[in-house]
Amino acid sequence: MKTYRIAVIPGDGTGPEVVREGLKVLDAAAEKFKFACEKKIFDFSGERYLKTGRLLEEGDAAELKRYSAIYLGAVGHPGVKPGILEAGVLLKLRFALDQYINLRPIKLYNPDFCPLKGKNPEDIDFVVVRENSEGLYKGMGEFKDKGTQDEVAIQVSYNTRKAVERCIRFAFEYCRKRNKKKKLTLCGKTNVLTYAWDLWQRAFYAVAKEYPDIQTDYAHVDATTMWFLKNPEWFDVIVTDNMFGDIITDLGAMIQGGMGIAAGGNINPQGVSMFEPIGGSAPKYTGQNVINPLAAICAVGMMLENLGEVKAAEAVENAVIKVVQTKLKSLAAGKMGYSTSEVGDLVVDYID
Ligand code: IPM
Ligand code: MN
Repeated sequence: MKTYRIAVIPGDGTGPEVVREGLKVLDAAAEKFKFACEKKIFDFSGERYLKTGRLLEEGDAAELKRYSAIYLGAVGHPGVKPGILEAGVLLKLRFALDQYINLRPIKLYNPDFCPLKGKNPEDIDFVVVRENSEGLYKGMGEFKDKGTQDEVAIQVSYNTRKAVERCIRFAFEYCRKRNKKKKLTLCGKTNVLTYAWDLWQRAFYAVAKEYPDIQTDYAHVDATTMWFLKNPEWFDVIVTDNMFGDIITDLGAMIQGGMGIAAGGNINPQGVSMFEPIGGSAPKYTGQNVINPLAAICAVGMMLENLGEVKAAEAVENAVIKVVQTKLKSLAAGKMGYSTSEVGDLVVDYID
């Protein structure tokens, strides 16, 4: 029997609660589709940081590289200054494991949960390929005359041709494999950010020559947010940089029904990838058994697909669709009509 080694990072806030449901679904899928998962829990939480001052260390990344995949709950703790856990755990993991793609599917399962009038599941079904290794996330910059009236803060968007091109190539390949509208939209800001987006645009159209079967399109990021609401059916696959990808996928999450259902994968196509609900640690709901675990469960589905367990991945997605279409009153925390653990049980029931 095939055995996968899964590194589990429950993290903070509601992370552990949603991860528990995700693992329940993973176990059900493993039993049904005849594979095994060895799980090991890693505590890279804000809680641990407050007690010990420890974040992700050298050896941790090396150890994680020996796993088949990483499953992450949430990073973020109200007691820790913003930026510390993000840089010290989440971004460090993405960078250290060279997970250079952040893949975020935007798919509406039930029109009742869409805030847009008249939009149906066939209208909202696209994927954002977010560059995940550089741009404004590189952490490059400086203060000048910090604390004075003449202070200057510089934050650099760092874009290498190599990283941009590998991201764009991944997006074209993904679009071809997805085989739906076969349309790839570059989302940028060529009219203002004339260095970064000049490079992106040149790389995009150069790589496009290798994919004559894929239709190309370009949209400025501000216009993209408008089209998400007005004409989401125009999109199939979108490729964009780290910062724009971060922003537009929160909007994307809302049109698919909210953070309760939005999942993503930090992908290293040649290495170890990491799957997570994109919503964060939601501290105010911690420990109440009210948070929606479906985003974390969808992340399990993405992880299974990445591991090559395609049938299991489909079964998880179909079970989620059934729960969303026939059971839940809402996708929002505390309003689902079921508790966190009951929603996990419902998904498991539909897998069996
Ligand atoms: C996300 C999050 C992270 C990001 C934060 C927590 C660092 O917002 O995964 O979208 O900005 O990438
Ligand atoms: Mn974000």
